[in-house]
Amino acid sequence: MSLRKVILINSQISERGYTEVLVTQNMIMKAEVLRTELMLKGMAKSDLLADPMAQFESWYQQALTTDMAEPTAMSLATVDANGQPWQRMVLLKMFDENGFVFFTNYSSRKAQQIAGNAKVSLLFPWQALGRQVKITGTAEKIATADSLKYFASRPRGSQIGAWASHQSQVITTRAMLDTLFEQMKDKFSKGEVPLPSFWGGYRVKPSSFEFWQARDSRLHDQFVCEQGDDESWQYQRLAP
Ligand SMILES: Cc1cc2nc3c(=O)[nH]c(=O)nc-3n(C[C@H](O)[C@H](O)[C@H](O)COP(=O)(O)O)c2cc1C
Repeated sequence: MSLRKVILINSQISERGYTEVLVTQNMIMKAEVLRTELMLKGMAKSDLLADPMAQFESWYQQALTTDMAEPTAMSLATVDANGQPWQRMVLLKMFDENGFVFFTNYSSRKAQQIAGNAKVSLLFPWQALGRQVKITGTAEKIATADSLKYFASRPRGSQIGAWASHQSQVITTRAMLDTLFEQMKDKFSKGEVPLPSFWGGYRVKPSSFEFWQARDSRLHDQFVCEQGDDESWQYQRLAP
């Protein structure tokens, strides 16, 4: 039986570890069946939850309970010093009212770009459901204690892999990577693998959301959600 983890919005990694719900195989539905339903139903402003994070959570949980591939994968866009945007996939590992958390190498290209410009964008490409969620926001490193908590939960091979890989740097051969992995395996052969100082999480604090639902004849439903001066979130329908 395969299981999927659903991470709840009211979870907190800082205090008590995050809450997880395990979805069993018999709870999983075919994405194409749900997609057809969702396209027929469409999306009205009144269907949206006032808190866009709660709205995201509702779509996220629906995505997790289908057979779509990699529902937690999101594209992260950053901008380099020349104003050139870059994108790559990362996995959403946790979210709550403060933002979306992913983990990576703090010396990687994306990390260097975030250090120069913390404004980023996320995209959840849930096309299997005829949906996408676009998010803009600001990235900041999470507390080391929170990174450690997550790192400690990772399989040993992934922990050692984090030590062995200088992410985004040029390496001449695959053998160099394998050798470094073996060296790190020896180095940390006993006890727990420590958290590398160059590895950890970022939290993206959202400044806008767009919820996009495919409809027939390209007349899709799309709502942007931004905070007004009074900090309340406001939705507006956008032409598709
Ligand atoms: C589905 C998928 C999930 C990924 N998840 C992560 C992740 O959570 N963290 C990460 O650092 N890289 C992840 N990667 C690799 C990144 O896309 C990227 O290649 C790597 O982080 C280096 O990016 P950079 O050079 O722009 O910093 C993932 C790739 C794929 C295809």
